[in-house]
Amino acid sequence: MSRLTDLPAWEQLQQHYETIKDVHMRELFAQDQTRFERFSKTFNEILFDFSKNRIDQHSLDLLLQLAEQSDVTGWREKMFAGEPINHTEGRAVQHTALRSPCAQPIYADGVRIDLEIKQELARVKALAERVRTRQWLGHSNQPITDVVNIGIGGSHLGPLMVTEALRPYSIHDLHIHYVSNIDENHINNSLESLNPDTTLIIIASKSFTTQDTMVNAQTAKSWLMKKLKSELDLPKHLVAVTSNAEAAVQFGIARENIFKMWDWVGGRYSLWSAIGLSIVISIGSENFDALLAGAHDVDEHFKSAPLAENIPVIMALLGVWYNNFFGSESIAVLPYDQNMHRFPAYLQQADMESNGKSCDRDGKDVDYTTGPILFGEIGIASQHAFYQLLHQGTKLVPADMLAPIANFHCIATHHRALMSNVFAQAEALMNGKTAEEVHAELTRQGMSESEIDMLLPYKVFPGNRPTNTFLFYTLNPRTLGSLIAFYEHKIFVQGVIWNLDSFDQWGVELGKVLATNILNEINIGKEVSNHDCSTNGLINYYLKRKPKSESNGS
Ligand code: F6P
Repeated sequence: MSRLTDLPAWEQLQQHYETIKDVHMRELFAQDQTRFERFSKTFNEILFDFSKNRIDQHSLDLLLQLAEQSDVTGWREKMFAGEPINHTEGRAVQHTALRSPCAQPIYADGVRIDLEIKQELARVKALAERVRTRQWLGHSNQPITDVVNIGIGGSHLGPLMVTEALRPYSIHDLHIHYVSNIDENHINNSLESLNPDTTLIIIASKSFTTQDTMVNAQTAKSWLMKKLKSELDLPKHLVAVTSNAEAAVQFGIARENIFKMWDWVGGRYSLWSAIGLSIVISIGSENFDALLAGAHDVDEHFKSAPLAENIPVIMALLGVWYNNFFGSESIAVLPYDQNMHRFPAYLQQADMESNGKSCDRDGKDVDYTTGPILFGEIGIASQHAFYQLLHQGTKLVPADMLAPIANFHCIATHHRALMSNVFAQAEALMNGKTAEEVHAELTRQGMSESEIDMLLPYKVFPGNRPTNTFLFYTLNPRTLGSLIAFYEHKIFVQGVIWNLDSFDQWGVELGKVLATNILNEINIGKEVSNHDCSTNGLINYYLKRKPKSESNGS
């Protein structure tokens, strides 16, 4: 038994699960015509419908008790108060401060931070506006046409996701590119059509030690230097965002071009900081302010709404319900807005790097399952790819669908068809199709009984597959900010319930260390025998066949 499984609500939920696990949502809807009103919430321009879940009021009440008994409110207070709740790294968790209007002093682990936040945001906006208004000139006095953000993980996925999602708000004569992969194809494909004279490179790395980013940064610097007359011109083309200013200076970045990050901002929660520089360049200061405001709206809601009204809390509890009681292993995130195509990838890091852990806050192995496997893609594309499994597979995959009521371009033929798919898929997943319904349908089509007997089992849909639906008016900066913050706080609440430190990421370390050692062995180039036979075999196979004519890339 553990702290969580000892809670009274846990045991009550287990018992309740036994009574509801075979109940079909069709029955729940038939019993309660007010289910939609009861199990949906609105927040500004966002509707959150969670009525298509395998819950009744009693399930929700018990889940809310679980949140109370896990002290979600206490942890929430500690986070907003800037206590070092990232205990394995001894750090506060204050990404919410980045989007606060900072009307009151804000602290991280006892140190005042709001003034620095304002100052840094003003610097970011000043640079962005100079680039956007063509006042930032390159070494040959030409304005910037292309910005390349080099970073990975949180220094890449958040900015990329937001820039893509807010594409209609972007400035048209400026192109923003994102490079993350150490595979040379990524940087080469990005730089090959660009002109160093009119390109600004952002090196985004909280640590300024991440191998992938450092290798790409070096390649980008060499690419610039082929065209620049001297290193003195570099400040016109190279800036950095980091909490390791000294490493950035050593790399050759001018001090005035270094934007600050703080250790109380986790990489995957950092798009609100100077890491969002590329976003500000793309959409401008006002729109970035709206993005921050949308997230702040949700922070206030999360901080003050009773648990039963609290959207991120409800999202988290539904996730716990399926993860820990139904044994469901994954969740799907399915945006029905093409511009949100990187939203699932962004959430993958946010969720899986935060709660993909098996050691609890007390240093003990958990005896329950924690963070789910999060996957997803654009909804429409997924319907023609993996929805088959969602509808008729053997696994229960709860899904979130997200869709705008109005599209930016307002083309009815496209948008109405899109929306019809959102509603139809959620309805189909919930209702399914019974054998009787299939039989009646095939009979109407004129099939014989023997033909029907053969085909019927394949055409039955079990249904009872849960979905949440988010409908929002349009995907504007404020709404996007709110949606991201909903998920951030959902992840936080789940981490509290699972008794995890959601803000460290020790699980990424081992591979990094091994890669450093193996890179050394590859550079030496001699046959290896110090690993297991598979790893030895792979390295030696590679060493024998690797091209003799590799360049050093610069
Ligand atoms: O390897 C994981 C990680 O540390 C992420 O948490 C982080 O977002 C990413 O690498 C990039 O780190 P940095 O911004 O320090 O380069």
